Amino acid sequence: MLDLGRQPSANRFLARADIAREFMFRLAIGMCHSCTMVQLIEDVPEEIRYHDGYRYRASGSATHRRHFARVARELLATELAGPNPFIVEIGCNDGVMLETIARAGVRHLGVDPAKEVTELARERGVNVLDAFFGDSVAEGIRAEHGSADVIFGANTVCHIAYQDSLLRGVDTLLGPDGVFVFEEPYLGTVISQMAFDQIYDEHVYYFTARSVQQMAQRYGFELVDVGRSPLHGGEIRYTLTRPGRRRPSPAVGELLADERHRGLADPVTFQRFADAVAKIRDDLLTLLRDLRDRGSTVVGYGAPGKTATVTNYCGIGPELVPFVVDSTPAKQGLLVPGSHLPVRPPQAFTTANPDYALLFAWNHADEIMAKEQAFSRRGKWIRYVPDVRVG
Ligand code: TYD
Repeated sequence: MLDLGRQPSANRFLARADIAREFMFRLAIGMCHSCTMVQLIEDVPEEIRYHDGYRYRASGSATHRRHFARVARELLATELAGPNPFIVEIGCNDGVMLETIARAGVRHLGVDPAKEVTELARERGVNVLDAFFGDSVAEGIRAEHGSADVIFGANTVCHIAYQDSLLRGVDTLLGPDGVFVFEEPYLGTVISQMAFDQIYDEHVYYFTARSVQQMAQRYGFELVDVGRSPLHGGEIRYTLTRPGRRRPSPAVGELLADERHRGLADPVTFQRFADAVAKIRDDLLTLLRDLRDRGSTVVGYGAPGKTATVTNYCGIGPELVPFVVDSTPAKQGLLVPGSHLPVRPPQAFTTANPDYALLFAWNHADEIMAKEQAFSRRGKWIRYVPDVRVG
Protein backbone atom coordinates (compact mmCIF):
# COMPACT_ATOMS: atom_id res chain seq x y z
CA MET A 1 0.00 0.00 0.00
CA LEU A 2 2.63 2.49 1.05
CA ASP A 3 6.40 2.40 1.53
CA LEU A 4 7.82 5.07 3.87
CA GLY A 5 11.42 3.92 3.48
CA ARG A 6 14.15 3.34 6.07
CA GLN A 7 12.91 4.40 9.49
CA PRO A 8 13.91 4.14 13.15
CA SER A 9 11.76 2.99 16.08
CA ALA A 10 9.65 6.15 16.46
CA ASN A 11 9.82 6.62 20.24
CA ARG A 12 13.46 5.60 20.61
CA PHE A 13 14.74 9.13 21.26
CA LEU A 14 18.50 8.99 21.45
CA ALA A 15 21.63 10.78 22.61
CA ARG A 16 24.17 11.94 20.03
CA ALA A 17 26.63 9.27 21.23
CA ASP A 18 24.18 6.51 20.22
CA ILE A 19 23.65 7.57 16.60
CA ALA A 20 26.08 5.00 15.16
CA ARG A 21 24.14 2.15 16.83
CA GLU A 22 20.67 3.33 15.85
CA PHE A 23 18.20 0.63 14.83
CA MET A 24 16.54 1.09 11.42
CA PHE A 25 14.02 -0.96 9.43
CA ARG A 26 11.82 -0.70 6.35
CA LEU A 27 8.50 0.96 7.17
CA ALA A 28 5.83 -0.23 4.75
CA ILE A 29 2.23 -1.36 5.09
CA GLY A 30 0.12 -3.83 3.14
CA MET A 31 -3.32 -5.44 3.36
CA CYS A 32 -4.12 -9.12 3.93
CA HIS A 33 -6.34 -10.25 1.07
CA SER A 34 -8.28 -12.75 3.16
CA CYS A 35 -9.12 -10.76 6.31
CA THR A 36 -8.45 -7.17 5.04
CA MET A 37 -6.21 -6.39 8.02
CA VAL A 38 -3.79 -3.60 7.09
CA GLN A 39 -0.43 -4.17 8.76
CA LEU A 40 3.30 -3.52 8.78
CA ILE A 41 5.17 -5.69 6.32
CA GLU A 42 8.27 -5.81 8.52
CA ASP A 43 7.78 -5.57 12.27
CA VAL A 44 10.23 -4.46 14.93
CA PRO A 45 10.88 -6.76 17.93
CA GLU A 46 8.98 -5.46 20.93
CA GLU A 47 12.11 -5.39 23.10
CA ILE A 48 13.35 -2.64 20.76
CA ARG A 49 10.05 -0.75 20.81
CA TYR A 50 9.24 -0.91 24.54
CA HIS A 51 12.44 -0.73 26.51
CA ASP A 52 13.33 0.84 29.84
CA GLY A 53 13.94 4.20 28.17
CA TYR A 54 10.56 4.23 26.39
CA ARG A 55 9.54 7.91 26.19
CA TYR A 56 5.83 7.89 25.47
CA ARG A 57 3.65 9.30 28.26
CA ALA A 58 -0.10 8.79 27.86
CA SER A 59 -0.77 11.66 30.30
CA GLY A 60 1.14 14.07 28.05
CA SER A 61 -1.86 16.30 27.35
CA ALA A 62 -4.88 17.59 29.26
CA THR A 63 -7.14 16.18 26.53
CA HIS A 64 -5.78 12.67 27.11
CA ARG A 65 -6.13 12.98 30.90
CA ARG A 66 -9.75 14.14 30.63
CA HIS A 67 -10.61 11.47 28.07
CA PHE A 68 -9.26 8.54 30.09
CA ALA A 69 -10.83 9.78 33.33
CA ARG A 70 -14.16 9.78 31.46
CA VAL A 71 -13.55 6.27 30.02
CA ALA A 72 -12.77 4.98 33.53
CA ARG A 73 -15.91 6.57 35.00
CA GLU A 74 -18.04 5.04 32.24
CA LEU A 75 -16.59 1.58 32.86
CA LEU A 76 -17.12 1.96 36.62
CA ALA A 77 -20.77 2.84 36.05
CA THR A 78 -21.44 -0.02 33.61
CA GLU A 79 -19.19 -3.07 33.17
CA LEU A 80 -17.59 -2.71 36.61
CA ALA A 81 -20.80 -2.08 38.57
CA GLY A 82 -21.30 -5.73 39.68
CA PRO A 83 -19.92 -7.40 42.86
CA ASN A 84 -16.11 -7.36 43.31
CA PRO A 85 -15.27 -6.46 39.70
CA PHE A 86 -11.80 -6.86 38.15
CA ILE A 87 -10.29 -4.97 35.21
CA VAL A 88 -7.02 -5.62 33.40
CA GLU A 89 -5.46 -2.99 31.16
CA ILE A 90 -3.08 -4.07 28.42
CA GLY A 91 -0.34 -1.40 28.25
CA CYS A 92 -1.33 0.88 31.14
CA ASN A 93 1.57 3.28 30.49
CA ASP A 94 1.69 5.93 33.28
CA GLY A 95 -1.69 4.89 34.71
CA VAL A 96 -3.70 7.66 33.08
CA MET A 97 -6.85 5.46 32.92
CA LEU A 98 -6.36 3.04 35.86
CA GLU A 99 -5.66 5.89 38.27
CA THR A 100 -9.41 6.68 38.39
CA ILE A 101 -10.24 2.96 38.82
CA ALA A 102 -7.69 2.64 41.65
CA ARG A 103 -9.12 5.68 43.42
CA ALA A 104 -12.58 4.08 43.26
CA GLY A 105 -11.11 1.08 45.13
CA VAL A 106 -11.84 -1.36 42.28
CA ARG A 107 -9.60 -4.40 41.70
CA HIS A 108 -7.37 -3.76 38.72
CA LEU A 109 -4.06 -4.67 37.12
CA GLY A 110 -2.07 -2.87 34.43
CA VAL A 111 0.23 -5.02 32.29
CA ASP A 112 3.04 -3.04 30.69
CA PRO A 113 6.71 -3.81 29.98
CA ALA A 114 8.09 -0.23 29.97
CA LYS A 115 9.40 0.06 33.56
CA GLU A 116 10.34 3.72 33.54
CA VAL A 117 6.76 4.65 32.60
CA THR A 118 5.02 2.17 34.89
CA GLU A 119 6.91 3.68 37.87
CA LEU A 120 4.72 6.75 37.31
CA ALA A 121 1.60 4.53 37.37
CA ARG A 122 2.71 2.98 40.67
CA GLU A 123 3.19 6.45 42.14
CA ARG A 124 -0.47 7.07 41.27
CA GLY A 125 -1.54 4.00 43.28
CA VAL A 126 -1.99 1.70 40.26
CA ASN A 127 -1.08 -2.03 40.46
CA VAL A 128 1.22 -2.98 37.59
CA LEU A 129 2.76 -6.16 36.27
CA ASP A 130 5.85 -5.41 34.16
CA ALA A 131 5.26 -7.79 31.26
CA PHE A 132 4.11 -8.10 27.66
CA PHE A 133 0.49 -9.30 27.71
CA GLY A 134 0.03 -12.73 26.09
CA ASP A 135 -1.40 -16.17 26.75
CA SER A 136 0.99 -17.33 29.48
CA VAL A 137 0.86 -13.98 31.32
CA ALA A 138 -2.95 -14.14 31.12
CA GLU A 139 -2.93 -17.60 32.70
CA GLY A 140 -0.80 -16.34 35.58
CA ILE A 141 -3.13 -13.38 36.18
CA ARG A 142 -6.19 -15.60 36.15
CA ALA A 143 -4.59 -18.02 38.61
CA GLU A 144 -3.81 -15.18 40.99
CA HIS A 145 -6.81 -12.85 40.60
CA GLY A 146 -9.56 -14.83 38.87
CA SER A 147 -11.19 -13.90 35.56
CA ALA A 148 -11.65 -10.32 34.39
CA ASP A 149 -14.89 -8.44 33.81
CA VAL A 150 -13.14 -6.00 31.52
CA ILE A 151 -9.94 -6.22 29.51
CA PHE A 152 -9.11 -2.76 28.24
CA GLY A 153 -6.50 -1.36 25.88
CA ALA A 154 -5.94 2.10 24.41
CA ASN A 155 -3.40 2.51 21.65
CA THR A 156 -1.86 -0.81 22.59
CA VAL A 157 -3.81 -3.63 20.94
CA CYS A 158 -2.74 -2.52 17.47
CA HIS A 159 0.85 -2.48 18.79
CA ILE A 160 0.88 -6.22 19.48
CA ALA A 161 2.25 -8.16 16.52
CA TYR A 162 1.53 -11.59 17.98
CA GLN A 163 -2.27 -11.50 17.64
CA ASP A 164 -2.57 -15.25 18.35
CA SER A 165 -1.09 -15.03 21.80
CA LEU A 166 -2.96 -11.79 22.56
CA LEU A 167 -6.42 -13.15 21.67
CA ARG A 168 -5.76 -16.52 23.31
CA GLY A 169 -4.74 -14.58 26.41
CA VAL A 170 -7.98 -12.60 26.31
CA ASP A 171 -9.86 -15.90 25.93
CA THR A 172 -8.09 -17.31 29.01
CA LEU A 173 -8.62 -14.28 31.21
CA LEU A 174 -12.02 -12.87 30.26
CA GLY A 175 -15.03 -14.03 32.30
CA PRO A 176 -18.00 -15.57 30.40
CA ASP A 177 -19.85 -12.23 30.33
CA GLY A 178 -16.77 -10.03 30.19
CA VAL A 179 -15.94 -7.42 27.57
CA PHE A 180 -12.73 -6.73 25.72
CA VAL A 181 -12.71 -3.00 24.91
CA PHE A 182 -9.97 -1.27 22.95
CA GLU A 183 -9.60 2.09 21.24
CA GLU A 184 -7.03 2.35 18.51
CA PRO A 185 -6.02 4.38 15.47
CA TYR A 186 -8.53 3.85 12.66
CA LEU A 187 -7.55 3.19 9.06
CA GLY A 188 -10.55 5.27 7.94
CA THR A 189 -9.15 8.31 9.80
CA VAL A 190 -5.59 7.76 8.62
CA ILE A 191 -6.88 7.84 5.04
CA SER A 192 -9.43 10.65 5.35
CA GLN A 193 -6.99 12.93 7.21
CA MET A 194 -3.96 11.82 5.21
CA ALA A 195 -2.42 11.00 8.59
CA PHE A 196 0.40 8.91 7.18
CA ASP A 197 2.51 9.91 10.19
CA GLN A 198 0.34 7.60 12.32
CA ILE A 199 2.22 4.84 10.55
CA TYR A 200 5.27 3.82 12.55
CA ASP A 201 6.83 0.75 14.13
CA GLU A 202 4.54 0.70 17.17
CA HIS A 203 1.38 0.59 15.07
CA VAL A 204 1.60 -2.92 13.68
CA TYR A 205 -2.10 -3.09 12.65
CA TYR A 206 -4.42 -0.40 11.20
CA PHE A 207 -7.88 -1.56 12.19
CA THR A 208 -11.26 -1.23 10.52
CA ALA A 209 -14.55 -2.61 11.82
CA ARG A 210 -14.30 -5.23 9.08
CA SER A 211 -10.81 -6.45 9.94
CA VAL A 212 -11.54 -6.40 13.69
CA GLN A 213 -14.73 -8.38 13.11
CA GLN A 214 -12.73 -11.00 11.19
CA MET A 215 -10.10 -11.11 13.92
CA ALA A 216 -12.79 -11.50 16.61
CA GLN A 217 -14.47 -14.38 14.77
CA ARG A 218 -11.20 -16.19 14.21
CA TYR A 219 -10.60 -16.35 17.98
CA GLY A 220 -14.16 -17.07 19.13
CA PHE A 221 -15.37 -13.54 19.90
CA GLU A 222 -17.98 -11.23 18.46
CA LEU A 223 -17.72 -7.51 17.66
CA VAL A 224 -20.78 -6.07 19.43
CA ASP A 225 -20.13 -2.33 19.49
CA VAL A 226 -18.05 0.44 17.94
CA GLY A 227 -17.80 4.05 19.06
CA ARG A 228 -15.76 7.11 18.21
CA SER A 229 -12.94 8.39 20.38
CA PRO A 230 -11.45 11.84 19.72
CA LEU A 231 -7.81 11.01 20.49
CA HIS A 232 -4.98 11.04 17.95
CA GLY A 233 -7.20 12.71 15.36
CA GLY A 234 -10.12 10.24 15.66
CA GLU A 235 -10.00 6.62 16.77
CA ILE A 236 -12.53 3.81 17.05
CA ARG A 237 -13.38 2.01 20.29
CA TYR A 238 -14.26 -1.66 19.68
CA THR A 239 -16.15 -3.90 22.12
CA LEU A 240 -15.80 -7.70 21.83
CA THR A 241 -17.69 -10.32 23.83
CA ARG A 242 -18.04 -14.07 23.62
CA PRO A 243 -20.52 -14.93 20.84
CA GLY A 244 -24.22 -14.44 21.46
CA ARG A 245 -23.79 -12.68 24.82
CA ARG A 246 -25.04 -9.27 23.68
CA ARG A 247 -27.07 -8.00 20.81
CA PRO A 248 -24.67 -6.12 18.47
CA SER A 249 -25.41 -2.40 18.38
CA PRO A 250 -26.63 -0.84 15.09
CA ALA A 251 -23.38 1.17 15.06
CA VAL A 252 -21.46 -1.96 13.97
CA GLY A 253 -23.53 -2.48 10.82
CA GLU A 254 -23.44 1.25 10.06
CA LEU A 255 -19.66 1.45 10.27
CA LEU A 256 -19.23 -1.70 8.15
CA ALA A 257 -21.50 -0.18 5.49
CA ASP A 258 -19.61 3.11 5.62
CA GLU A 259 -16.30 1.26 5.15
CA ARG A 260 -17.66 -0.59 2.11
CA HIS A 261 -18.90 2.69 0.68
CA ARG A 262 -15.50 4.34 1.22
CA GLY A 263 -13.58 1.42 -0.28
CA LEU A 264 -11.45 0.86 2.83
CA ALA A 265 -10.34 -2.56 1.58
CA ASP A 266 -9.95 -1.44 -2.03
CA PRO A 267 -6.48 -1.17 -3.65
CA VAL A 268 -7.62 1.91 -5.63
CA THR A 269 -8.19 3.78 -2.35
CA PHE A 270 -4.69 2.88 -1.19
CA GLN A 271 -3.12 3.99 -4.47
CA ARG A 272 -4.81 7.39 -4.15
CA PHE A 273 -3.61 7.64 -0.55
CA ALA A 274 0.00 6.79 -1.48
CA ASP A 275 -0.03 9.41 -4.27
CA ALA A 276 -1.35 12.10 -1.92
CA VAL A 277 1.30 11.22 0.70
CA ALA A 278 4.06 11.64 -1.90
CA LYS A 279 2.63 15.06 -2.77
CA ILE A 280 2.70 16.13 0.90
CA ARG A 281 6.38 15.14 1.05
CA ASP A 282 7.23 17.15 -2.08
CA ASP A 283 5.22 20.22 -1.00
CA LEU A 284 6.63 20.23 2.53
CA LEU A 285 10.23 19.90 1.37
CA THR A 286 9.79 22.66 -1.22
CA LEU A 287 8.29 24.96 1.41
CA LEU A 288 11.00 24.30 4.03
CA ARG A 289 13.80 24.77 1.49
CA ASP A 290 12.25 28.02 0.29
CA LEU A 291 11.97 29.33 3.84
CA ARG A 292 15.59 28.40 4.59
CA ASP A 293 16.79 30.08 1.39
CA ARG A 294 14.87 33.23 2.33
CA GLY A 295 16.48 33.23 5.79
CA SER A 296 13.27 32.52 7.74
CA THR A 297 13.50 30.52 10.96
CA VAL A 298 11.44 27.35 11.53
CA VAL A 299 11.03 25.42 14.79
CA GLY A 300 9.18 22.08 15.14
CA TYR A 301 6.35 21.99 17.69
CA GLY A 302 5.89 18.68 19.56
CA ALA A 303 7.88 15.47 19.21
CA PRO A 304 5.21 12.75 19.11
CA GLY A 305 6.00 9.39 17.51
CA LYS A 306 4.63 10.89 14.29
CA THR A 307 7.62 13.25 14.02
CA ALA A 308 9.95 10.36 13.22
CA THR A 309 7.77 9.15 10.34
CA VAL A 310 7.30 12.51 8.66
CA THR A 311 10.87 13.78 9.09
CA ASN A 312 12.52 10.54 7.99
CA TYR A 313 10.16 9.97 5.06
CA CYS A 314 10.53 13.54 3.80
CA GLY A 315 14.25 13.82 4.59
CA ILE A 316 13.87 16.73 7.03
CA GLY A 317 17.00 17.18 9.14
CA PRO A 318 18.37 19.94 11.43
CA GLU A 319 19.43 21.96 8.37
CA LEU A 320 15.74 22.62 7.65
CA VAL A 321 14.29 22.42 11.18
CA PRO A 322 17.10 23.18 13.69
CA PHE A 323 15.15 21.85 16.69
CA VAL A 324 11.73 20.84 18.02
CA VAL A 325 10.18 21.66 21.38
CA ASP A 326 8.26 19.17 23.47
CA SER A 327 6.74 19.32 26.95
CA THR A 328 7.81 15.75 27.88
CA PRO A 329 10.89 16.08 30.14
CA ALA A 330 12.07 12.56 29.21
CA LYS A 331 12.42 13.57 25.54
CA GLN A 332 14.20 16.88 26.15
CA GLY A 333 17.94 16.93 25.51
CA LEU A 334 17.67 13.94 23.17
CA LEU A 335 17.30 13.64 19.38
CA VAL A 336 14.26 12.65 17.30
CA PRO A 337 14.98 9.10 16.06
CA GLY A 338 16.46 8.86 12.56
CA SER A 339 16.26 12.55 11.59
CA HIS A 340 18.17 13.64 14.73
CA LEU A 341 16.38 16.93 15.30
CA PRO A 342 17.29 18.06 18.84
CA VAL A 343 14.36 18.15 21.31
CA ARG A 344 14.25 21.14 23.65
CA PRO A 345 11.83 22.28 26.37
CA PRO A 346 8.92 24.56 25.38
CA GLN A 347 10.69 27.68 26.73
CA ALA A 348 13.16 27.35 23.84
CA PHE A 349 10.28 28.15 21.51
CA THR A 350 9.63 31.50 23.13
CA THR A 351 13.35 32.31 23.28
CA ALA A 352 13.96 31.42 19.62
CA ASN A 353 11.01 33.55 18.53
CA PRO A 354 10.85 31.76 15.13
CA ASP A 355 9.04 33.01 12.03
CA TYR A 356 7.36 29.62 11.48
CA ALA A 357 6.36 26.66 13.64
CA LEU A 358 5.96 23.25 12.03
CA LEU A 359 3.16 21.54 13.98
CA PHE A 360 4.12 17.89 14.48
CA ALA A 361 1.69 17.41 17.42
CA TRP A 362 -1.25 18.34 15.14
CA ASN A 363 -3.67 16.17 17.10
CA HIS A 364 -3.22 18.62 19.99
CA ALA A 365 -3.70 21.74 17.86
CA ASP A 366 -6.48 23.21 20.05
CA GLU A 367 -4.51 22.85 23.28
CA ILE A 368 -1.34 24.21 21.66
CA MET A 369 -3.07 27.17 19.95
CA ALA A 370 -4.63 28.17 23.27
CA LYS A 371 -1.17 28.16 24.85
CA GLU A 372 0.72 29.87 22.03
CA GLN A 373 -1.51 32.83 21.27
CA ALA A 374 1.40 35.25 21.48
CA PHE A 375 3.26 33.33 18.76
CA SER A 376 0.12 33.05 16.60
CA ARG A 377 -0.18 36.86 16.56
CA ARG A 378 3.20 37.33 14.85
CA GLY A 379 4.38 33.94 13.53
CA LYS A 380 2.84 31.38 11.19
CA TRP A 381 1.96 27.72 11.70
CA ILE A 382 2.86 25.13 9.10
CA ARG A 383 0.63 22.04 8.91
CA TYR A 384 1.17 19.07 6.64
CA VAL A 385 -2.01 17.00 7.09
CA PRO A 386 -4.35 16.65 5.26
CA ASP A 387 -2.18 18.85 3.02
CA VAL A 388 0.61 21.39 3.38
CA ARG A 389 -0.67 24.79 4.47
CA VAL A 390 0.69 27.88 6.15
CA GLY A 391 -1.46 30.16 8.26
P1 TYD B 1 0.84 12.17 21.42
O1 TYD B 1 -0.36 12.87 20.95
O2 TYD B 1 0.68 11.43 22.66
O3 TYD B 1 1.29 11.33 20.21
P2 TYD B 1 1.99 10.05 19.65
O4 TYD B 1 1.15 8.89 20.04
O5 TYD B 1 1.91 10.34 18.18
O6 TYD B 1 3.40 9.99 20.15
O7 TYD B 1 2.10 13.12 21.61
C1 TYD B 1 2.02 14.49 21.70
C2 TYD B 1 3.39 15.05 21.98
O8 TYD B 1 3.30 16.47 21.92
C3 TYD B 1 3.94 14.68 23.33
O9 TYD B 1 5.32 14.34 23.22
C4 TYD B 1 3.78 15.94 24.16
C5 TYD B 1 3.82 17.04 23.12
N1 TYD B 1 3.06 18.23 23.48
C6 TYD B 1 3.74 19.43 23.65
O10 TYD B 1 4.96 19.49 23.52
N2 TYD B 1 3.03 20.54 24.01
C7 TYD B 1 1.67 20.52 24.17
O11 TYD B 1 1.06 21.55 24.47
C8 TYD B 1 0.98 19.27 23.96
C9 TYD B 1 -0.50 19.19 24.12
C10 TYD B 1 1.72 18.14 23.62
